[in-house]
Amino acid sequence: MSTATAGGVPVEVHNAGGALRVLVTKNLPGDRWLKVLTAAGCRVEVCSDPDTILSNEKIKKLIGDKCDGVIGQLTEDWSTELFGALKAAGGRAYSNYAVGYNNVVVPEATKVGIPVGNTPGVLTETTAELALALTFAAARRVVEGDTFMRGGQYKGWLPTLFVGNLLQNKVVGIVGAGRIGTAYARMMVEGHKCDLVYYDPYPNKFLEEYVSDYGKLLASKGERAVTVKRCETVEEVLRSADVVSLHCNLDDNTRHLMNAERLGMMKPDAVLVNAARGPCIDEAALVAHLKANPNFRAGLDVFEDEPAMKPGLEECENAVIVPHIASATLWTRAGMATLAACNVAATLSGHPVWNKPDVLPFVDGPFDAIPKAAPSIVNAKELSLAMA
Ligand SMILES: NC(=O)c1ccc[n+]([C@@H]2O[C@H](COP(=O)([O-])OP(=O)(O)OC[C@H]3O[C@@H](n4cnc5c(N)ncnc54)[C@H](O)[C@@H]3O)[C@@H](O)[C@H]2O)c1
Repeated sequence: MSTATAGGVPVEVHNAGGALRVLVTKNLPGDRWLKVLTAAGCRVEVCSDPDTILSNEKIKKLIGDKCDGVIGQLTEDWSTELFGALKAAGGRAYSNYAVGYNNVVVPEATKVGIPVGNTPGVLTETTAELALALTFAAARRVVEGDTFMRGGQYKGWLPTLFVGNLLQNKVVGIVGAGRIGTAYARMMVEGHKCDLVYYDPYPNKFLEEYVSDYGKLLASKGERAVTVKRCETVEEVLRSADVVSLHCNLDDNTRHLMNAERLGMMKPDAVLVNAARGPCIDEAALVAHLKANPNFRAGLDVFEDEPAMKPGLEECENAVIVPHIASATLWTRAGMATLAACNVAATLSGHPVWNKPDVLPFVDGPFDAIPKAAPSIVNAKELSLAMA
């Protein structure tokens, strides 16, 4: 590895003699991703600029006159300007280092013929586990208790100290029963025997059958059978659930899905969890709701104007707030890096598209057995790319 600058911006250079130039806008965990790119003949330049969020100006400088592919971040604005710059530099591949790609205007990439990769398949359990951690931290007031202890305020056990909510046998509501919503639902149902209500435009037959079969198993052991119901509306979920966890993707239909009116439909002592995307909640309305309802609790991994919080949120002791760390386990973050690298390397090598749910052969198998395919390209159909 050596250091250099690209358009005046500092970079770390790997495999300097590689014929294809790939820009990686942030350093990534693990080393398999770098091996993937160098094995594909790429010179890899990793931006080492101290800015946490890179401006379009800096990214354009980094792209420069010749850039074959980019691995970018969800904090960057990948639309006409950046795809135009990438295309002009001879770019043929882009991968987001994320499963969500609301920061990417995919039709703009399609317009200039650039495939857009994302990294599904390795975030599911990790993100669901963080949503679960937020659920119980909020319901059992873990952070308030921690602050109290560190502040030297604990004078002895009391019957009324930090009384929270028991979630065993309660109703869990899911908005968006896709991969992560399903994993979270199963954790709440199997681990805590919750009844499940969910809203998703598409029925999730697998989840419904799974919970129903699990209910039968419990009944056969003499325990209460859990139940499952797909609701016709979000409102029905909100009214009936003790915990609501958001796992939908962010689009025009889900922006401010949780607004003042819908927050008002929830039980006054319910828990609302968001490990999807910040703008799914009207955060100013949530702050007002948390202030007006001290027994209502929220667990938030994501924020409407990240990295900022709406005024007043930091004062709400009934909210548990963490800095967008839902996918932050080493296995997941290294796996995301490998998938993003495979998206770029395979596209530049002219390999077909995988687009199948099982991506473990890319991240866990022997290096030599990594499939010769791009794991996940979201505009594969629009670009008529060959499938593996
Ligand atoms: N906090 C994090 O670090 C983190 C990590 C991973 C993913 N995410 C977010 O989680 C989201 C879900 O990820 P996934 O892998 O489960 O995606 P997924 O595509 O498998 O699931 C999304 C589900 O939302 C449903 N949906 C769409 N519109 C809806 C609506 N209006 N109301 C209710 N449901 C709706 C879809 O039908 C789908 O079932 C991603 O889009 C991403 O934004 C966040």
